[in-house]
Amino acid sequence: MKIVVDRQVCAGHALCAAKAPDVYRLDDEGYCCSDGAIVPPQLHEQARLGARHCPEAAILLVVDEDTP
Ligand code: F3S
Repeated sequence: MKIVVDRQVCAGHALCAAKAPDVYRLDDEGYCCSDGAIVPPQLHEQARLGARHCPEAAILLVVDEDTP
């Protein structure tokens, strides 16, 4: 699973990192900077939880056969 964050859409609500601190990182200004990060299988559920809570729907989780 890969994280795709639309940095144009992210408004720094930080709920992604609050709900899924093991998955999402924030930059110094509080915006999500996990774009392109690979999520290991044991954290998929947490990744989905964090993405669901983003009020801007800025996070897309991409699942394909090439990424774990
Ligand atoms: Fe940004 Fe949404 Fe997280 S607005 S900081 S991706 S909760």
